[in-house]
Amino acid sequence: MRQPQTLLDIPTPALIVDVAALERNIQRMAAFFASGPCRLRPHFKAHKTPEIARRQLAAGSCVGLTCATVSEAEMVAGLTDDILIANEIVGPGKCERVAKLAERHNVTIAVDSVAGLEAMSAAAIKDGVTVGVLIDLNVGQTRCGLTPGLDALALARRVALLQGVRLRGVMGYEGHLQPIRERAERERRTREAMAALVATARLIEGDGLPCDVVSGGGTGTYDISGRVPGVTEIQAGSYVLMDSDYGSLDLPFEQAFHLLGTVVSRPDPGRCVADCGHKSATKDHGNPVVDGMEGATVLSLNDEHATIGLPAGSRIAVGDRVRLRPSHTDPTVNLHDVFYAIEGERVLDVWPIAARGYPEHRAVISRL
Ligand SMILES: Cc1ncc(COP(=O)(O)O)c(C=O)c1O
Repeated sequence: MRQPQTLLDIPTPALIVDVAALERNIQRMAAFFASGPCRLRPHFKAHKTPEIARRQLAAGSCVGLTCATVSEAEMVAGLTDDILIANEIVGPGKCERVAKLAERHNVTIAVDSVAGLEAMSAAAIKDGVTVGVLIDLNVGQTRCGLTPGLDALALARRVALLQGVRLRGVMGYEGHLQPIRERAERERRTREAMAALVATARLIEGDGLPCDVVSGGGTGTYDISGRVPGVTEIQAGSYVLMDSDYGSLDLPFEQAFHLLGTVVSRPDPGRCVADCGHKSATKDHGNPVVDGMEGATVLSLNDEHATIGLPAGSRIAVGDRVRLRPSHTDPTVNLHDVFYAIEGERVLDVWPIAARGYPEHRAVISRL
């Protein structure tokens, strides 16, 4: 297929990214962190796209990139020397792959168990490398992470006894606080969560151990956590593309990407059906929002179909394009192979979403 020249040439469903809006989001976030002392470590998992990460790093204020998986870390290795995998690394071959990356890069992982820590240490010793470690704390999201305080100190002491791993600090992601609509409540609870994180860092330091990194934050809390004294890095990701969920908060970022669909059916005056179902946009945060068509709403998503309720008198016809604002960036992007980078109606470029899916399995296929 030849590269599409305009929006009309793009086969649907497809993701389009407005390059100017994306750049404004990148610059706004970089400007916030320019004065420090806290810095930005953009989360790659939001977009999984090397071209976007390149632009984030070029804007400055970044200490490196955050990743969620070993595959993502392998994908960004050519872009930055400083990689945080803000996640527990457990499972066949994963610590070995992290050790391999650490031969040439400054790699840090999150740990919350002795088993995970010892596996990383063993792989690093075997490879003759050192991997950085952040103790992962549960600051209220109740996913991974140890309780702040003495449990974290005990694991930090364990790190200090092992070879191949080096204690760098603590992390705690306040994911449960990102969507809180009321700003005052979001601020209050985020400060509480970050206070527990910083207090644990000081507890570890008080024990004579290093704890230079205190990492947390996301798109909904970057400007709160990012100004808490003692927090050194923010892991925000979604801000760069945005979604309808974050769009309903008081954030200074623009919707920079859309799901483009084509109307395939116009069964009655109040309804049209487009070819962009939930194989092309997740609905875990609700249905996508219709942009650019006053009064139109997504009524339902099926595998290949988005059924859209239309305002009276709508003249939309079979073959017309619709633009949907996805409700949740990360898992929606993960469904696609490329972004069509656009300026107005013009397609400027096609950006591979290189880390989408599970790249390690693609590597197996290519060896068969
Ligand atoms: C550990 C961690 N850090 C940071 C983020 C980034 O959050 P956001 O996309 O809300 O900016 C996430 C998102 O889920 C996360 O899981």
